[in-house]
Amino acid sequence: MIYKVLISDDEERMRRVLAMVFEGMSDVKVVTTSSCEATLNYLEREHFHLLITDLKVQEMGRLEFLRAVKSKVPDIPIIVVTAYGSMIAAIDVMKEGVFDYLTTPFEKDVLKMAVMRALKMSSLTIENKYLRQELESRYDFRNIVGNSPQTIDALRLVGEVSKTSSTVLITGESGTGKELIARAIHFNSKRACGPLIVMNCAAIPENLLESELFGYERGAFTNADKTKKGRFELAAGGTFFMDEISEMSLAIQAKVLRVVEAKEMERLGGTETIKVDVRIICASNKNLEELVKLGKFREDLYYRISVFPITLTPLRERTEDIIPLSKLFLKHFSTKMGKASISLTKEVEKLLLMHKWEGNIRELQNVIERAVILCKGSLITTEHLPSAIARSFLFTEKDRLQHLDKAVSFDIPPHGLSLDALEKQLVTQALEKSKNNKTKAAKLLGLTRGTFRYRLQKYGLAN
Ligand SMILES: Nc1ncnc2c1ncn2[C@@H]1O[C@H](COP(=O)(O)OP(=O)(O)OP(=O)(O)O)[C@@H](O)[C@H]1O
Ligand SMILES: [Mg+2]
Repeated sequence: MIYKVLISDDEERMRRVLAMVFEGMSDVKVVTTSSCEATLNYLEREHFHLLITDLKVQEMGRLEFLRAVKSKVPDIPIIVVTAYGSMIAAIDVMKEGVFDYLTTPFEKDVLKMAVMRALKMSSLTIENKYLRQELESRYDFRNIVGNSPQTIDALRLVGEVSKTSSTVLITGESGTGKELIARAIHFNSKRACGPLIVMNCAAIPENLLESELFGYERGAFTNADKTKKGRFELAAGGTFFMDEISEMSLAIQAKVLRVVEAKEMERLGGTETIKVDVRIICASNKNLEELVKLGKFREDLYYRISVFPITLTPLRERTEDIIPLSKLFLKHFSTKMGKASISLTKEVEKLLLMHKWEGNIRELQNVIERAVILCKGSLITTEHLPSAIARSFLFTEKDRLQHLDKAVSFDIPPHGLSLDALEKQLVTQALEKSKNNKTKAAKLLGLTRGTFRYRLQKYGLAN
């Protein structure tokens, strides 16, 4: 990353002294200006990470100048360097949100340190802002795509439950979007400014799970040399997302039940009861009701967490979502890889609609990412699809032909029928169904184009 620093001072000598601090720093680009106007113009046109300025401002009052800078670029750190250092001026400028204030003469190293701290803050501010924006936009409802009644219904539930602090249970096969929904609930709730703590119960060894959840007091066990907060406590004021909840032992389930029910707990080795203001969202890709029957999941905990269940349907049962999701991922990956806009051929769309999607939306996302990598032009064709998906077309074509053989059974009515009249009707229907596309109409009747054309002529349907 290249840092851009703007140095503004009306004295040429001072500009040189200040710029010298950056000599030899290959990741810093310095621009110098000599007037307020030029400085404000630069800040308007280009992005700078730091402004170093004096306060011998002739054209504007010094506070006006600082305010003008802040109104144009509120996040920029400013270091003020002045020969006229007086305490009054220092307090005044600090009140304007100046990052640091140095009076001349100063040691080169003192300025260097101030610069380093300011640049660090600048990059953190940017990073933070970017991360926050990314998070918020990712979990904005508009980025959760789906046209199917199932998805629309799930989003309606998400909207309703976001207004509350109720416990939510999200179930669905792997890759159906459970975590996405959990995050959407958090970021659209009043707790959005609080923490979102995520824990996958399956990823933590059983013997560590309890201390991870509840924390421990110093001396609770051999290596506990200091008190540590557990995830329930860390999530205070926010949301705790417990993923793969079925993977907890029955003993831990009993302790979790108490937190879900009473919002209180004790740390391991502790006696003090701690109140935790936390919203709990659970997720599972297993059928918890089945596990309850098998005695592997506590019934009371199941009822307690399933006050507000949201079930995510497998992708193969909500095919209306496949194309909109594919388009979303196409746009995402082509932008990320710096490619121009890419679309899908009709044949690819058909194959995507027919695939079983055992890995659900995550699998679709991976398939599209791979296709975008392989695609050299602006159209994804069958050759960019994994062979298992591309081949399914061949299978279905074979299945279809086999199916044609035994397709319809037809009983001749007692009074008989005219084979010609029936044939004419079938030919007419095939044309209608295929919107006059003769190749498709021929296919519907299991005929070659030639034979089909012959029949069209026979019944005077050719035009
Ligand atoms: N409706 C949707 N719109 C846009 N993206 C989605 C949608 N549903 C899921 N995704 C994306 O699909 C991927 C898988 O979703 P997620 O990780 O939430 O699934 P999961 O159910 O938690 O899976 P697992 O059970 O394997 O943990 C993520 O990248 C997510 O952003
Ligand atoms: Mg998940």
